[in-house]
Amino acid sequence: MIFSGSSNKELAESVARYLNLVVSSLEITVFPDGERRIRVIDDVLEKDTFVIQPTATPGDQNYMELFLIVDALRRSGARSVTGIVPYLGYQRQDHVFRSGEAVSLEVISETLERVGLSKIVCLDLHSVKIPEVFSIPVLHLSALPLFAQKIREIMETLEGKTILVTPDMGGIRRIKQLSEMLDNMPYAIIEKDRDLETGSIRDASIDREVKDRTAFIVDDMISTGKTIIAAAELLKEKGVNKIYVFATHGVLSKEAPEILENELIEKVYLTDSVYIPEEKKFPKLEIISIADTIANAISS
Ligand code: R5P
Repeated sequence: MIFSGSSNKELAESVARYLNLVVSSLEITVFPDGERRIRVIDDVLEKDTFVIQPTATPGDQNYMELFLIVDALRRSGARSVTGIVPYLGYQRQDHVFRSGEAVSLEVISETLERVGLSKIVCLDLHSVKIPEVFSIPVLHLSALPLFAQKIREIMETLEGKTILVTPDMGGIRRIKQLSEMLDNMPYAIIEKDRDLETGSIRDASIDREVKDRTAFIVDDMISTGKTIIAAAELLKEKGVNKIYVFATHGVLSKEAPEILENELIEKVYLTDSVYIPEEKKFPKLEIISIADTIANAISS
């Protein structure tokens, strides 16, 4: 049985369609003070249940809803509860960066386990070490095969050489995997220096020649858009022809949509792991659905 929290009902509907199922009913009440009340309506006794709830903005609210849905399903007798959390909020806070900080992701994983989650399915996690934070099984899916397919389509319209680019060192494994999927397309690595206090990017450098190539920048997520723009500016300065941007999670905080509608960039491809409301969509944006990737994971 498929259930959905409030954070991305469209994705839940698409996944259910792929599986020839319907999204089962949940009653989600919001009290005047903002507290949520969750009630399972359908009979879940001895059923394997799946809850689709990415935890992007508002992350705290979406997590709280997820905790309560898992608890309600358990109390109603579900045999198992799998969390489909394609975007895992707080994943960038997976260790202590500066002394005195909380390890937020550990708090999240412990709470999910405590309320009774059996398994979690995530997409393009920020770091491959994140599954180690959980004691329950973690299935780590990727949108890279979909990106490879789209890049091949774009390449049919292009002339000249191409290059994959990771906008920071954290994406090296990702860019190597994508390069293999694309017959060993060359790749370049940008090293960015971010101020840990303000989040702003102080400096960026690239490890190879990119002149006269079309660049495909690939990242796990776009939040403020600063990383992508810093990479695009550096690539233009180094003489690339065209820039296409691919990122799995469109978190799109603050002015990101305006920032990304930038003359340096041809198009921005994001998945529907995070619901992108109409007001955040921008002309250069194209959304690639991961619904079939999730549906396949559920059915296998
Ligand atoms: C950082 O290490 C991630 O891979 C992304 O590059 C980063 O989180 C994107 O954030 P922003 O869009 O705010 O620069």
